[in-house]
Amino acid sequence: MNEIEYTLHKGVLQLKLNRAHKKNALNIQMYRDLTAQFLSAKTNDDIHVVLLTGHENCFSSGNDLQDFLGAGDLNEHHPTVQFLYALANFNKPLIAAVSGLAIGIGTTALLHCDLVYAADNARFQLPFTHLGLCPEAGSSILLPNIIGYQKAAQYLLLGEAFTAKEAYQMGLVNEVVLSVATDDKNEALVNVDSYALAKALQLSSLPQDAVQTTKRLLKGQLSDLTTKRIAQELKEFSRLLATDACQARVSAFFKR
Ligand code: COA
Repeated sequence: MNEIEYTLHKGVLQLKLNRAHKKNALNIQMYRDLTAQFLSAKTNDDIHVVLLTGHENCFSSGNDLQDFLGAGDLNEHHPTVQFLYALANFNKPLIAAVSGLAIGIGTTALLHCDLVYAADNARFQLPFTHLGLCPEAGSSILLPNIIGYQKAAQYLLLGEAFTAKEAYQMGLVNEVVLSVATDDKNEALVNVDSYALAKALQLSSLPQDAVQTTKRLLKGQLSDLTTKRIAQELKEFSRLLATDACQARVSAFFKR
């Protein structure tokens, strides 16, 4: 079974994280697949928009913690690092539909999205310091830029969780989508995935040069700053990964 499922419909490439039994924790192969999809979407004229989705109770529980045990240097050849740069440098609209848990990279990846829609059960957390680690994916610059320094410090230093409503109030998500009405199989007729897909199709039908130029202008100089910050963060993250404090806390997760 493919842990990254992809479908292309009317210019919208949907990438669905599909590792539910591990709460959609991202492993090395998933990073490889995501990077390959982003790099090919960048130059494929048939793809106008990318939509990232997860499962109804879990968008992603973050990096696979197994990979943090004895992890080596996070250099530019590392699949996770290649994913971070592919994400940060993506030139087309990127939309996320978040249900349930979004932890670690499950939240920091959203900071690179142009539009984020959250189900009312979405819950976000950046527990890097709890694991003896520091922010990644450019989140140390992107998060304060979006929600302000004090709030960013609350979530990145204390690692407190926050709800969909709080994320909306802080401007981290565009809308909170409530599931409405069910069909005879008891499945929601409108949920966050279908809502986000409708927005993606709307964007896909617009003149693509105008859409991509607008994204580039909106990002402006933040793009270069983010790329530089990702490199700085990775240096510290690699160093912290090798510390006893981090290794002990990650090991403790698997001994629960
Ligand atoms: N890495 C590796 N495995 C993970 C994982 C992760 N980030 N998150 C969940 N899993 C695995 C669990 O080990 C468990 O595997 P098992 O069934 O083989 O024992 C399975 O997914 C289900 O997780 P479980 O913890 O039993 O589910 P839960 O509903 O009680 O809790 C979470 C869900 C996400 C709150 C909890 O798993 C968690 O805290 N995960 C770690 C989150 C994290 O710190 N991420 C890294 C951020 S940098």
